[in-house]
Amino acid sequence: MLSGFLSKKGYKCRTAGSADEALKLYEKGGFEIALLDMKMPGEDGLSLMKKLKSLDPQIQPIMMTAYGTVETAVEAMQSGAYHYISKPIDLNELLALIEGAGEKHHLLRENLYLQTELERISKNERILGDSRPMQEVISTITRVAQSDAVVLVTGESGTGKELAAHALHDLSNRKSKRFVAVACAALTETLLESELFGHVKGAFTGATMSKIGRFELADGGTLFLDEIGDISPEIQVKLLRVLETMEFERVGSSEPMKVDVRVVAATNRDLQEKIADGAFREDLFYRLNVININMPPLRDRREDIILLVGNFLQRNNEKLNKNISGLTPEAKDLLMSYDWPGNVRELINVIERACVLSRGDVLDAGDFSAITPADRRPESEKFLIDSDVPELKNVEKKHIRKVLDYTDWNIARSSELLGIHRNTLRLKIKEYGLSKD
Ligand SMILES: Nc1ncnc2c1ncn2[C@@H]1O[C@H](COP(=O)(O)OP(=O)(O)OP(=O)(O)O)[C@@H](O)[C@H]1O
Ligand SMILES: [Mg+2]
Repeated sequence: MLSGFLSKKGYKCRTAGSADEALKLYEKGGFEIALLDMKMPGEDGLSLMKKLKSLDPQIQPIMMTAYGTVETAVEAMQSGAYHYISKPIDLNELLALIEGAGEKHHLLRENLYLQTELERISKNERILGDSRPMQEVISTITRVAQSDAVVLVTGESGTGKELAAHALHDLSNRKSKRFVAVACAALTETLLESELFGHVKGAFTGATMSKIGRFELADGGTLFLDEIGDISPEIQVKLLRVLETMEFERVGSSEPMKVDVRVVAATNRDLQEKIADGAFREDLFYRLNVININMPPLRDRREDIILLVGNFLQRNNEKLNKNISGLTPEAKDLLMSYDWPGNVRELINVIERACVLSRGDVLDAGDFSAITPADRRPESEKFLIDSDVPELKNVEKKHIRKVLDYTDWNIARSSELLGIHRNTLRLKIKEYGLSKD
């Protein structure tokens, strides 16, 4: 009954008849608010609430109790309930509680964002690099940070594109406002659109509440559009218009919104190539590429390696409570001669691994057994670094394509071979834009 009532009020509800069922529901997709009966068949509401809280501390449980004893209500509150409500339930009271719980959930999420920002700042993640190419990058960042011009940060994976975007924000007059990042490739087209521009209640199935988009969230600050090379043609058109006018509408609304946002975009794709293939709009490219910052790969600035290593050693010493003072000459040679296809990120991981595993105070070549200098890399492994498909999802795409070709696009047979559900396969075909020809 309550579910019917709340659905009418615009909430998306799922119901369960027992704690077990509720936990199964949770596995299928979390929720923001849990309205729980105290007394249920099997496991009781209090114990279910504790489980849910341990799965997701941001869930806001509201306990319904007919036995209105003060003790259980108190215990519920102490164990993390947002509130309790006694039966018979007053619908207006319930609605007010649900609204409050939703707000609290939102605030907690917001808080989480601030925490990660704080962590980043306290870790003092600065762009390091004395090499000529890095000094040029740093000087460009310093020069353009204060302007509102759109910046396109390009470079291979792990070269520090996101770090550069943060630096642009931190050095700007916008630094007291938000830095909002959107991982464009991680979202489907509809989700990305509503993520960027927000939506109004009822804009599409599942849009039970209106939601503000990242453009609005970043108002006054910086919006970082990561992996911009992967956005669909439809979103490209919309983005082009926003960049031109700084005006947009929430999905499902016709009311224009205006924001003041500095846009920084990043990609590890070759956009020129995508333009040539017709997969990326040239006009959007020019809008984004007002200022280009190209992050040089680590192998083109090997002189930075030792400086970075020194810094990462220090970080790991603090983190692991160790006292590693440096590297043997052989270890240095090894790191200097390696090609670092994963760039700085790979270097960070390699150093961390060596620090964790090493027993001495100095790292030697043996502590870096995971890497082989490119020239000594066995032929059989070359494809791993030379590959033009560095990301797992590209590998997935290629594999799906192979299986589909093999089965002559028999979906049932293909999904069987791939070990995934037919619907999942259909989704992936759509997502990757695969077609028979
Ligand atoms: N010049 C640098 N000095 C110090 N740390 C760096 C530098 N460049 C990158 N890093 C660190 O390396 C890691 C990867 O950097 P970042 O996430 O910015 O790379 P990216 O270019 O965005 O990679 P991807 O394309 O895979 O998203 C981060 O932890 C970052 O702090
Ligand atoms: Mg990145």
